[in-house]
Amino acid sequence: MAPSQMRHLYFLTVLFLLLFSFAFSQTVIDQRNQTIDERIVLESIARRWKIQIRDSPRSPCELSNEENPWFGCGCQNTWCKIEVLNVSGMNITGGIPLELFELRSLKILNLSHNILNGSIPREVANLKSLTHLILEANNLSGHIPPEIGNLTELQYLSLSANRFSGDLPRELGKLAVLEELYIDSNELTGTLPLEPNMTKLTTLWAFDNNFTGPLPEVIGNFVSLLDLRIFGTSFKGPIPSNFSALENLRILRLGELENGDSSLLFLRNITKLSFLSLRNCQIVGPIPVFFEHFTNLTFLDMSFNKLNDTVPVFLKNLTSLRHMFLGNNNLTGNFPLQIITENLTTLNPIGTSMDMKDTSESSDSFEYIILPKSEFLHKQYFSLYVVIYHVYLCMSKHLLPYQYSCVELQFVFI
Ligand SMILES: *[C@@H]1O[C@H](CO)[C@@H](O)[C@H](O)[C@H]1NC(C)=O
Ligand SMILES: *[C@@H]1O[C@H](CO)[C@@H](O)[C@H](O)[C@H]1NC(C)=O
Ligand SMILES: *[C@@H]1O[C@H](CO)[C@@H](O)[C@H](O)[C@H]1NC(C)=O
Ligand SMILES: *[C@@H]1O[C@H](CO)[C@@H](O)[C@H](O)[C@H]1NC(C)=O
Ligand SMILES: *[C@@H]1O[C@H](CO)[C@@H](O)[C@H](O)[C@H]1NC(C)=O
Ligand SMILES: *[C@@H]1O[C@H](CO)[C@@H](O)[C@H](O)[C@H]1NC(C)=O
Ligand SMILES: *[C@@H]1O[C@H](CO)[C@@H](O)[C@H](O)[C@H]1NC(C)=O
Ligand SMILES: *[C@@H]1O[C@H](CO)[C@@H](O)[C@H](O)[C@H]1NC(C)=O
Ligand SMILES: *[C@@H]1O[C@H](CO)[C@@H](O)[C@H](O)[C@H]1NC(C)=O
Ligand SMILES: *[C@@H]1O[C@H](CO)[C@@H](O)[C@H](O)[C@H]1NC(C)=O
Ligand SMILES: *[C@@H]1O[C@H](CO)[C@@H](O)[C@H](O)[C@H]1NC(C)=O
Ligand SMILES: *[C@@H]1O[C@H](CO)[C@@H](O)[C@H](O)[C@H]1NC(C)=O
Repeated sequence: MAPSQMRHLYFLTVLFLLLFSFAFSQTVIDQRNQTIDERIVLESIARRWKIQIRDSPRSPCELSNEENPWFGCGCQNTWCKIEVLNVSGMNITGGIPLELFELRSLKILNLSHNILNGSIPREVANLKSLTHLILEANNLSGHIPPEIGNLTELQYLSLSANRFSGDLPRELGKLAVLEELYIDSNELTGTLPLEPNMTKLTTLWAFDNNFTGPLPEVIGNFVSLLDLRIFGTSFKGPIPSNFSALENLRILRLGELENGDSSLLFLRNITKLSFLSLRNCQIVGPIPVFFEHFTNLTFLDMSFNKLNDTVPVFLKNLTSLRHMFLGNNNLTGNFPLQIITENLTTLNPIGTSMDMKDTSESSDSFEYIILPKSEFLHKQYFSLYVVIYHVYLCMSKHLLPYQYSCVELQFVFI
């Protein structure tokens, strides 16, 4: 650090101490009955992270969010007990400092989108009031410590997009009020040690990990689930039949399930779906008639399965549908043009007689999607007339969990 920066920091620190020294609740008693001054802890963390603390003659309790963006107080009059620490996206490096775990009133700890490394310290167990622990998008590694199970107030846990490895601790199953769990995009192994009574879960993202064993049946108990995403793991199929209880799902993404054929019957009562992707799940049989009730569906990907029979005309009832991927199945017959309604913008019908051998070099990582757009002329679709197709080259290989990223190309067939 340049001397001038150092002076600046020193100045800020001194200023901070002067201005705020009477504003924080003076002491907190920890288990060892030592007195700890939250102000000193915060100041030390700020110095380590090179975060500037705005100088103000007022108590932090009197500052607005804009004035005081990275920590928040639980206030008794003007006394501040630090309940929120949010340093998301501030380029913070190094390990998670142990002092942090002296801030025992913390409810929300957000260290996401930084460059933190090392593991989660066991001292995390001290933060018994935590409701939100947000560590996503860092460079954290190692095992998830069993002490995570001591955070029994946790509603929101995000460990996504780090390099965590090893099996998840059994203690994770103690988080009985957990609502959102994000453990995707790590190198986790083993299975999901979740308990059937974790019925408050609304979101579970576990994709892109090294999980093994059968796709956990326990998930079928989480009837509040709205958003379930498990793909890019080594979990084995078939899809447990008790998943049929997940009637509140809006988003369901399963994928890469080897072993065991699955049927689509479990979906019968899951009619609120808006996003359904069951890519590469060894699904067998025809597309069931009850799919006509999926009127909120905007995205349907059932590619790389063993669907057979024809593409059913009743799919035309899915008027919200924008993206449909049915390629790489065992579907036969003509593609029913009636199902191309105005909302449909991407379609991948490889394997039917609409198969476009000229353009589809479908591989695991890329696929072509044929978009009819306005130039689309029903009768001329397969004729020798000149038809302009807008072909979208899409990256679909788990790079973008939320949506497919496409590049538009134009093809002219004569
Ligand atoms: C901490 O303080 C409480 C009461 O103030 C006392 O009962 C307890 O024994 C103390 N614990 C230790 C480890 O000194
Ligand atoms: C934390 O900070 C980020 C970025 O400034 C912001 O998007 C987010 O809403 C904040 N709040 C919480 C609770 O993380
Ligand atoms: C973080 O680092 C990047 C790249 O060096 C920079 O563009 C960005 O402004 C930095 N963000 C903050 C909050 O300092
Ligand atoms: C964490 O919970 C375990 C029991 O599940 C308990 O033995 C341990 O003392 C707790 N640790 C802390 C720091 O509270
Ligand atoms: C959930 O079940 C686990 C294990 O059976 C148990 O330890 C935990 O206390 C239960 N939680 C609630 C809220 O019932
Ligand atoms: C996870 O699986 C990938 C691909 O199979 C492999 O390259 C990687 O070494 C595995 N990581 C661990 C920690 O097992
Ligand atoms: C769907 O709901 C009906 C009526 O509640 C029930 O009889 C049927 O067993 C359910 N089907 C599945 C696959 O869960
Ligand atoms: C579709 O979504 C709307 C609005 O969210 C909802 O009112 C309706 O019940 C949903 N339809 C089905 C079949 O779930
Ligand atoms: C579709 O596959 C199922 C299950 O393998 C089989 O029973 C059925 O006969 C097949 N139907 C057609 C039309 O090939
Ligand atoms: C599907 O659409 C047809 C007419 O296009 C209609 O008669 C039928 O009731 C619709 N089915 C459902 C489940 O909405
Ligand atoms: C297209 O989707 C929108 C919003 O989902 C819906 O309001 C509209 O009716 C759809 N168009 C058709 C032709 O159904
Ligand atoms: C696809 O269907 C044909 C005829 O129905 C059948 O002979 C073939 O075995 C099926 N292929 C697969 C992979 O199911």
